[in-house]
Amino acid sequence: MDDRHEPQPSSRDASTDHDVHELIRRRWSPLAFSSQPVADRDLRSVLEAARWGPSCFNEQPWRYIVARREQEAEFARMLSCLVEKNQRWAQAAPVLMLSVARLAFAANDRPNRHALHDVGLATAQLSLQAAALGLGVHQMAGFSPDRARELYAIPDSFEPVAAIALGYPGAPDQLPEDLRARDRGARIRHPQAEFVFAGTWDTPLS
Ligand SMILES: Cc1cc2nc3c(=O)[nH]c(=O)nc-3n(C[C@H](O)[C@H](O)[C@H](O)COP(=O)(O)O)c2cc1C
Repeated sequence: MDDRHEPQPSSRDASTDHDVHELIRRRWSPLAFSSQPVADRDLRSVLEAARWGPSCFNEQPWRYIVARREQEAEFARMLSCLVEKNQRWAQAAPVLMLSVARLAFAANDRPNRHALHDVGLATAQLSLQAAALGLGVHQMAGFSPDRARELYAIPDSFEPVAAIALGYPGAPDQLPEDLRARDRGARIRHPQAEFVFAGTWDTPLS
C-alpha cells in the first residue's frame, strides 16, 4: 500500500490482544476532520480498494455516490440525508459518500443474500486503504435511506446501506463540546471469547 504518510503512533490505535497488521491497529472512526481536501488520486485510491473487494459470485453489488465539499450544492444535498446528530460533525468532512447495495444478482434477478455483507466488505477495504493514506473514514447508519433514494433516484432494486465521511482527522477542539470526549474516548472491543466459538454455540475456542 502507499506509504506517502508515515504512520505516527496515536492514542486512537487499537490496543489488541493478538497481533494485527498496523493498518488495522491504526484505523479508527474520527469525528473531527481537518479542512485539508482529499486529493483526487487518494479518493480514487480508496474507491479502487473497494472495487477489489471479494463478493459472492463476483457480483460486486456495491455502488458509491460521492459528494465533495468543493461542490457545495452536491455536498449540502448529501449532508441533508444524515440525521442531525451526524450532520453536526460530518459537515466538516471534505468528502461524503453513500454506499448502496444491488439486492439481486444481475444474471438471474434472484435475491443476493450477501449483498449487504459484500458492500460492507468493500467499505472495509476502502477504510483500510484510507488508513494507509493517513485518511479517516467514519461510517454512519444515521441517515435517511428514503431521502437518499429520492434525492439520487436510487432504483427499488438497490438499498442504501451506509453514509461515509472521509477526510484527514482534525483537532477535536473544533468539535461541539459534547462530541470532543467521544472523539478521543477509549476504543473498546468484546474479548474473542465472547464471539469466537468452537464445538458448540457459546463455547469459546480454546
Ligand atoms: C455500519 C456502521 C454504522 C455506523 N453509524 C454511525 C453513526 O450513525 N454515527 C456515528 O457517529 N458513528 C457511527 N458508526 C461508527 C461506530 O460507532 C464506530 O465504528 C465504532 O464505535 C467503533 O469505533 P472505531 O471505528 O473508531 O473503531 C457506524 C459504524 C458502522 C460500521
